[in-house]
Amino acid sequence: MFAKKTIKDINVQGKKALVRVDFNVPIKDGKISDDTRIQAALPTIRYLMDHGASVILMSHLGRPKGKVDPMFSLAPVAIHLGKLLGKTVAFADDCIGKSAVDAAAVLKPGEVLLLENTRFYDGDEKNDPEMAKKLANLADIFVNDAFGSAHRAHASTEGVAKFLPAVAGFLMEKEIQYLGEAIRAPGKPFVVILGGAKISDKIGVIRNLLGKADHILIGGAMANTFFKALNYDVADSLAEADAASTASEIIKEGGSKIVLPVDVVIADALDANAQSREMPIGDVPAGWRILDIGPKTVQLYGDWIKTAKTVVWNGPMGVFEFERFAKGTFGIAKAVADSSAVSIIGGGDSVAAIQQSGLTDRITHISTGGGASLEMLEGITLPGLAALQDK
Ligand code: 3PG
Repeated sequence: MFAKKTIKDINVQGKKALVRVDFNVPIKDGKISDDTRIQAALPTIRYLMDHGASVILMSHLGRPKGKVDPMFSLAPVAIHLGKLLGKTVAFADDCIGKSAVDAAAVLKPGEVLLLENTRFYDGDEKNDPEMAKKLANLADIFVNDAFGSAHRAHASTEGVAKFLPAVAGFLMEKEIQYLGEAIRAPGKPFVVILGGAKISDKIGVIRNLLGKADHILIGGAMANTFFKALNYDVADSLAEADAASTASEIIKEGGSKIVLPVDVVIADALDANAQSREMPIGDVPAGWRILDIGPKTVQLYGDWIKTAKTVVWNGPMGVFEFERFAKGTFGIAKAVADSSAVSIIGGGDSVAAIQQSGLTDRITHISTGGGASLEMLEGITLPGLAALQDK
């Protein structure tokens, strides 16, 4: 059960609701190339509109380092959101200054206003109480629906919750329910698939899940560090030299729970047109590098995934940006989609892989959080969530 109050637990009628969303979306030439995070916030926004609240949205975009930078303006998002809602979304070119105060003051029930990037002030990331207070002064209640930023203790996520009645939105609730439940009481067998470049990024996840998961399947460049720990020569493969001892410890602690690739795809360059071939795991020839898991590994991992009741996947299995090294990642995507397990995918790259495969509909839950979902899997309390009122 979700332990925090949500917008359904309070009266929002006639209230000004300040809603932290995560509209940190990719924008190129003023166009949003992936609006998943905006779509994911719609249920909360619509509920508040339909229940007579005036909706004041705020978000960060990118990392403008406390300075106004038009490159990181949320203005294109206001236009896009207006199209999705079928209603004009007002935009204030500041989040705490006069334009924000004036726009919030005239906002009527059912109307929506988006404030400019909260990170145009360094007070946001510093969790400055003065900035948090100014944000809070715009509204009567605070709603946090920014799961993707819930691991940040910033003025717009955590600080503001100290000055207003603070509750969760529907996206926050859904994310915490899926990810929290997978960790707390996963249906067994519980299979975790971890990929990506660095073992150091996932070490906390591995440690936290070792006691809970039945199998942890390793792929991506992260696997190379494990191979190093097993004294294989990985030649030019990406690997973390200083993490080999950590990998050894994990292999000892995890025993047969830690499953490593049995074959890999190697290439003589990191290039779409490089020479490449498959090989069973062993010493990689000089001048070559591992860029994907091999077909036998896809089969082996697929068999584990087939038997699972819960699957959590974070991180690609290879350099899937290049077709030649994408079979591992897409093979795993298909196996996860085909399985009848509760499937949860987090992290930008694995989510992109599942979207490119056109298999999103067959996944139980696709998280909108990268860092936030990893911290959940690590068992870390998210400050943006902790700050909300308990039920
Ligand atoms: C994300 O994209 O993971 C979130 O929006 C958080 O962004 P940040 O890492 O810049 O805080």
